[in-house]
Amino acid sequence: MFKKFFSKQARKPSGLFGRFVTARIFEKGNAGLNRGMLDLVAASGEDRILEIGFGTGGAIHAMAGALDGGRVEGIDFSGNMLHIAEKKNRKHIETGKVKLVHGDFDKASYPAESFDTVCTANTIYFWPDRMLTAARIFEVLKPGGRLVIAYVEKAKMDNMPLDMEVFTPISHVELKTLLEQAGFNSVRIYPEPDQDIAEYCAVAEK
Ligand SMILES: C[S@@+](CC[C@H](N)C(=O)[O-])C[C@H]1O[C@@H](n2cnc3c(N)ncnc32)[C@H](O)[C@@H]1O
Repeated sequence: MFKKFFSKQARKPSGLFGRFVTARIFEKGNAGLNRGMLDLVAASGEDRILEIGFGTGGAIHAMAGALDGGRVEGIDFSGNMLHIAEKKNRKHIETGKVKLVHGDFDKASYPAESFDTVCTANTIYFWPDRMLTAARIFEVLKPGGRLVIAYVEKAKMDNMPLDMEVFTPISHVELKTLLEQAGFNSVRIYPEPDQDIAEYCAVAEK
């Protein structure tokens, strides 16, 4: 019962629980994976970056701080998360360096070839049609642009107390195959896959 409730909250935080409890769990529990994603995104200069499922908006804030002339956009379908992330990024939103949108990436319309980097942490387990989402990301990236996906690998996630009707864990091989089929080149996994490690980032180029 709680497993299903918590899994649904992880997918789309809502209500007071989402605002006060899930948000804290994201900030603490996902910090390491987000740091890994930020290292690989390596935001700088005039980069145009999109984060899908920004949660409480910490990564958006870090990326915006590293830019000079660039811009970070974010989309999240949880109203709760939008509220928290807007507060955290208020100054950057006011200057136009950050733009946050409330919506579902699968249904959003971004102009083709508009981002240097698309990144996302802990969302791929919830993509209802992975090929559709991967293809949409491919479309909005500029030629030579990069996708960074931060995730917990299937072997570890299978042993976590999560509702697998809500979460669909993904293996390294499934993710690599998905991205290659969506048209990406040179898909690499960081760090080198190892039985003891749970958290990874896949980096793929358009
Ligand atoms: C598990 S949380 C991860 C949040 C943050 N990236 C982190 O690592 O702490 C998943 C987030 O993605 C959002 N999300 C999931 N699927 C989405 C979609 N299709 N479009 C927009 N946001 C989505 C949820 O609302 C939630 O805030």
